[in-house]
Amino acid sequence: MDIKAIILAAGQGTRMHSKLPKVIHKIAGKPLIEHVVLLTQALTDQKPVVVIGHGADQVKESLMHLDVNFILQQEQLGTGHAVMMAKEHIAEDETVLVLYGDTPLIDKKTLLDFIDYYHENNLDLSVLSMKVPDPTGYGRVVKEKGKLNKIVEHKDADQNILALDEVNSGIYLMNSNRLLMHMHKIQNNNKQNEFYLTDIVEIFCQQGYNVDAYCIEDYTQMLGINNRVQLAEAEMIMRNRINRELMLSGVTIIDPNNTYVDSGVKVGKDTIIYPGSMIRSNSVIGESCEIGPRTVIENSIIDDEVTVKESQILNSRVGKRTKVGPYAYVRPGSNIGEDVKIGDFVEIKNSNIGNGTKISHLTYVGDGDVGEKVNLGCGVVFVNYDGVKKYRTKVGNDSFVGCNVNLVAPVEVSNDAYVAAGTTVTKDVPEGALAIGREKQKNIDGWVKRKRSRK
Ligand code: UD1
Ligand code: MG
Repeated sequence: MDIKAIILAAGQGTRMHSKLPKVIHKIAGKPLIEHVVLLTQALTDQKPVVVIGHGADQVKESLMHLDVNFILQQEQLGTGHAVMMAKEHIAEDETVLVLYGDTPLIDKKTLLDFIDYYHENNLDLSVLSMKVPDPTGYGRVVKEKGKLNKIVEHKDADQNILALDEVNSGIYLMNSNRLLMHMHKIQNNNKQNEFYLTDIVEIFCQQGYNVDAYCIEDYTQMLGINNRVQLAEAEMIMRNRINRELMLSGVTIIDPNNTYVDSGVKVGKDTIIYPGSMIRSNSVIGESCEIGPRTVIENSIIDDEVTVKESQILNSRVGKRTKVGPYAYVRPGSNIGEDVKIGDFVEIKNSNIGNGTKISHLTYVGDGDVGEKVNLGCGVVFVNYDGVKKYRTKVGNDSFVGCNVNLVAPVEVSNDAYVAAGTTVTKDVPEGALAIGREKQKNIDGWVKRKRSRK
């Protein structure tokens, strides 16, 4: 049977003390809710249904790039009510999987095993349960003769029930036909006046349906995020997971506790990541690279054997064997070729840099198209902005631009041209020419001696 995921995400998350709805806070670079949606996409081709309420527009916005159905739950009358709201998206003859948008750490393997267990035992409903050191606040799994009988919320429980240590994680699998037939029976006559989804367990039991709990060992996967402390804990758990997976696949991470790789990033084998590095968004790093220390790479594609030291690269591409840094800043829209050198205190923005070019120190390349095997000396400035508009500068293949040169855009230095140190270039430089524009130097003989004698 096909799986239809329903993700409950209408709650506010008061304890986050935030202007943002809880589920769009991020861990490992992605909103909590996105982690859950991606997980369901790995289990089923069916579009997940996301129940939204608080901050509905922001939650929608955060999932714009994914194929998801939304249901608005105007008032948050309980988890049961939230699922009832999603009724129009529940079809006959499917298996409904309920999850929470604020519980992003669940392992795919756990869910797959849970689904297998449900099918192998021909169940109509199964609850993913766990034993936690402190069950306070959770719904308790109540069994009769070893069989799941009902779930009782903490607030509604008596002493005997509070003493039970198996709790409801909030994840369920259910037969859609049976759910559709009986969900209207969920009432709100409890301490919180809420429509509890947990009541469906007892309702199914009363029908004589096949109901069971699937208890997992590792309850940390079920950590729900309610405040910023838990947000940081979840971040740490996910970070460990990502780093571990990378290391097991052949990446060397010198200090995993001090290396921050977003979920979705790819890193090739034999790459070494030094401490203090962050690799973010959808970056792809090739094989045998050296990244860091203290480097940020965001949404960029880095080819094999590249070195990036103490630098930042944002929304850009870097070709094979290129060396970047230390202290370089590669801003969005840059495409850097192979065997390039981008040295210390170099800033590149929205520019193309050809293969084999060297930009070794203290240079700004903004809106430039720099050819192959070019040498840009120390302190070259691409003067790209006149206070109103930005203009491009072109430097042809094999050209040499000396130190302290201003290239005032729009301007072009052709192939094989030279620009003398200290020149401000305002006119195009033809192929093979030398551009030189600077005051003639004069030496005043004996000046130093005369100055000293005046003292
Ligand atoms: C719920 C379970 C409890 C379980 C616990 C695990 C019920 C009645 N109780 O309790 O047995 O041990 O989760 O964490 O289900 N939501 C909506 N709309 C609503 C209410 C909630 O979308 O009207 C969403 C919330 O945004 C949240 C999730 O459902 O993502 C859980 O709601 P929450 O209020 O946290 O339930 P708990 O009281 O923790
Ligand atoms: Mg909760």
